[in-house]
Amino acid sequence: MTITPVPSQPTVEPTSPEEPYLKLEGGYPLRGEVPISGAKNSALAIMAGALLTMDGCRISNVPDLADIRMMSEILDAVGVRVTPVGPNTLDIDARFLSVHRAPYELVNRLRASFFILGPILARLGMARIHLPGGCAIGARPVDLHVRGLAALGAEVHIEHGVVEARARKLRGARIYLDYPSVGATETIMMAATLAEGETVIENAAQEPEVADLANFCRSMGACIRGAGTKTIVICGVPRLHSTEYQVIPDRVEAGTLLAAAAITRSILSLSPVIPDHMGAVIAKLREMGALIDIVGPNRIEIRPGGTLRAVDIETQPFPGFPTDMQAQFMAMLTLCEGTSIISETVFENRLMHVPELNRLGADIRVRSGHAIVRGVLRLSGAPVVASDLRASAALVIAGLASHGTTRIAGLHHLDRGYESLEVKLQQVGARIERVVPNVPTGSLVAQSL
Ligand code: UD1
Repeated sequence: MTITPVPSQPTVEPTSPEEPYLKLEGGYPLRGEVPISGAKNSALAIMAGALLTMDGCRISNVPDLADIRMMSEILDAVGVRVTPVGPNTLDIDARFLSVHRAPYELVNRLRASFFILGPILARLGMARIHLPGGCAIGARPVDLHVRGLAALGAEVHIEHGVVEARARKLRGARIYLDYPSVGATETIMMAATLAEGETVIENAAQEPEVADLANFCRSMGACIRGAGTKTIVICGVPRLHSTEYQVIPDRVEAGTLLAAAAITRSILSLSPVIPDHMGAVIAKLREMGALIDIVGPNRIEIRPGGTLRAVDIETQPFPGFPTDMQAQFMAMLTLCEGTSIISETVFENRLMHVPELNRLGADIRVRSGHAIVRGVLRLSGAPVVASDLRASAALVIAGLASHGTTRIAGLHHLDRGYESLEVKLQQVGARIERVVPNVPTGSLVAQSL
């Protein structure tokens, strides 16, 4: 078997000297409690779901993230008022929802913006939205969303990069998804809440965020059964009403902190979490030799066990091992005893963190979409660049365990999906800080011209 070594040059965008970066001194164990924020992926879908009602919704436990702010801007562009009314709480008023298109520049930066298509169509009988841009981790088509809406009776045209969907009245249908796409399941489920008759989604995504969105819709009066299983049944109702709803805790943030604790041989207690949402992650950590205690319904504690051992990982739709935890586990496995094979099956281009981890001294090679991780005795700090959201978390984890100083640039990725990660880590003893370089006056003038 020939294995192609991955070059150790960064393949990600270079950064400018004015860009903020994280500076980490690695090798210090963490100890204490970390609060877990609300789930980004739930909150984004629920914000779109709030368009299904004329009445206002209050959503709490919304993480303060760049992606959430971008979604708020997109909602604003379609006539929806999003008002922060307290820490992590948003009021969403979609009374004046319109069919205006959100600007391409916004939609292109946030794939979840596409989630508004189904609700706008269901409410107004017509919706137009730019196709979301490709993204670093893969092509991410929207064919399953579009086919689902067409099955509900919508006429869908894609022209000049814009999806236009029309339906005087959506009608329930039986829809089989070729792949259990999270986004497509959410789009179809939301649209079906206001359709006439019964919709059955077969081979639906079972992710906890799908169930959370369904619970939110049910709190507005929607009739949905089976969310969180492979078959979801939705009976359309004429209208939905206002609600107050709390977003579930972020299982990916919690998993990221467990990985950070395992690699630094730390003792951490995380709350609130829903351990049932983290089955595969907890199982793999235990297989590696970490000690994990589930303390009550919403707390997890991790302690160091013996030497951490290599494990193989294959990403799968829920309840399989989440693709959103693949990069963080790869960072951890670089320091485990033995060789691990990581197979990424959900997204075709989600191994861009490999060269950056190798820059820190890891021994990872990629062959046909599989990463072969040979455990090394130590990592050593270096400047690295994040290529996407979860890759940035992987670099933080590796930096915490590296000897010396690591500098992580490309923080706009981290800020999309982790609420104050460096502050939470500082509070449990990590030597990590965000450095915002002083921009010389000359370049400020140059920028403003
Ligand atoms: C969501 C999550 C993302 C997570 C992913 C998989 C949000 C905002 N994001 O993304 O963090 O990594 O689930 O758990 O919730 N696909 C198609 N056609 C489609 C739709 C998807 O072929 O119409 C393919 C995608 O290219 C990908 C796979 O299905 O290969 C999974 O994508 P999907 O489950 O839809 O992910 P997202 O909803 O985009």
